Amino acid sequence: MMARETVTAIILAAGKGTRMKSRLPKVLHRIAGRPMLGHVLSLVDEIPNARSVLVVGPDMDEVATYAKGVAPDTGIAVQAEQLGTAHAALMAQSDISDREGVVLVIFGDTPLMHPETLAGMVRTCRDEAEIVVLGFRPKDPAAYGRLVLDEEDALQKIVEFKDASEAEKGIALCNGGAMAVRAEYLFDLLSRVGNENAAGEYYLPDIVGLARAEGLVCRVQEGEEEEVQGVNSRADLAMAEAVMQRRLRHKAMADGATLADPASVYFSFDTVLGRDVTVGQNVVFGPGVRIADGATIKPFSHLEGATVAEKAEVGPFARIRPGSSIGAGAKIGNFVETKKAEIQEGAKVSHLSYIGDARVGAHANIGAGTITCNYDGYNKFFTDIGAGAFVGSNSALVAPVKIGDGAYLGSGSVITKDVTPDALAFTRPKQVEKSGWASAFRAKNESASGKVKD
Ligand code: UD1
Ligand code: MG
Repeated sequence: MMARETVTAIILAAGKGTRMKSRLPKVLHRIAGRPMLGHVLSLVDEIPNARSVLVVGPDMDEVATYAKGVAPDTGIAVQAEQLGTAHAALMAQSDISDREGVVLVIFGDTPLMHPETLAGMVRTCRDEAEIVVLGFRPKDPAAYGRLVLDEEDALQKIVEFKDASEAEKGIALCNGGAMAVRAEYLFDLLSRVGNENAAGEYYLPDIVGLARAEGLVCRVQEGEEEEVQGVNSRADLAMAEAVMQRRLRHKAMADGATLADPASVYFSFDTVLGRDVTVGQNVVFGPGVRIADGATIKPFSHLEGATVAEKAEVGPFARIRPGSSIGAGAKIGNFVETKKAEIQEGAKVSHLSYIGDARVGAHANIGAGTITCNYDGYNKFFTDIGAGAFVGSNSALVAPVKIGDGAYLGSGSVITKDVTPDALAFTRPKQVEKSGWASAFRAKNESASGKVKD
């Protein structure tokens, strides 16, 4: 790997996130089923030859552990006191020993950036400038830092809102926060940033003025307002969720799925839909779901940690829980719950059933109201239903139990023993009939009370 190709992303996440009013560190709050920080780490992962160094506050082990779990080569630096963004970035110094290539400084609470934006900043920083700042033009520039350009439209300095003159506050081009800096200059510049400003903080944006004074080239790359938005409150979190869901819906449709009412379908960051998948209204995909080509997910279904094979049908009102795999052409109908269940090709579980810790063999038919009794309060047990078996309605299969291929189970049975292939098994008291009993019963009661029941 050529040294100039190296990219290190310093992810700042030491802020307390007080406005979230949460026990959970801000960057671990989830968007589309994945912690915000996971989205940021995956942005870095898309850049070739990139590695992250995460700057956390004290007592943020949970954040460090999460990052290491997702990207084991992530460096962790601790900022003991939150003295500002320049001070935070400086904490990563010891972890960036080679000081080659480009360093990206990004925020852990800004999960909506486009990978192309970061890639563009890195490219410009390699080829044309020592520093590249992500700029944007917000509808309301509010309290963002302002980017001051010189006569040649090169970036001259960044002023924080609190320190800006009236003229500077009138600048529409704002600081989006992210920066790309050549590694060889970054830490020297950071170490020279002071804190004589309105906030008394060490501002990362101050490195631009310092770099210019040394004749270094500083450029702006403009991005969209949407991608720059940070999450500071629960309302911001909901906003970021909405943006992410919109993107995931567009992606699903671009990849060839039909969404009957896109706004009512909720995705996870890793949902995979094949071509010609049809998704009805009000479907929720939790993490870890893959739907193969031509499958149909009918309205009001909830799926998580599951695969659905080609041309299978799920729902309406189905709950497909983790560890479920629905085979090709299989049918899962209304009010059916599956968990750790392998429903093999062409099998049908059409109505009101619970199938957990089980295999349902190919083309087996599971009648309405069938329950696999998988739990005795302490342990879980497996139910194995053979290919082509027919389970009568309202059967309880008390696991562990094995139903042989092609066997029939009579409706309403409580099956506790294995059934051999092609046998019929049922557990059912004999039906008793007393002819004329009902009319005699009515006649007796009506003459006693003297009136006809209304
Ligand atoms: C920053 C920029 C501002 C820009 C805005 C865009 C500075 C000084 N200002 O302001 O120009 O318009 O982003 O959103 O950089 N953090 C630490 N340690 C600290 C301070 C902050 O790790 O000591 C982390 C925070 O957790 C957060 C990020 O740095 O993830 C940004 O800090 P924040 O205080 O939100 O900066 P802004 O005021 O938004
Ligand atoms: Mg902020």
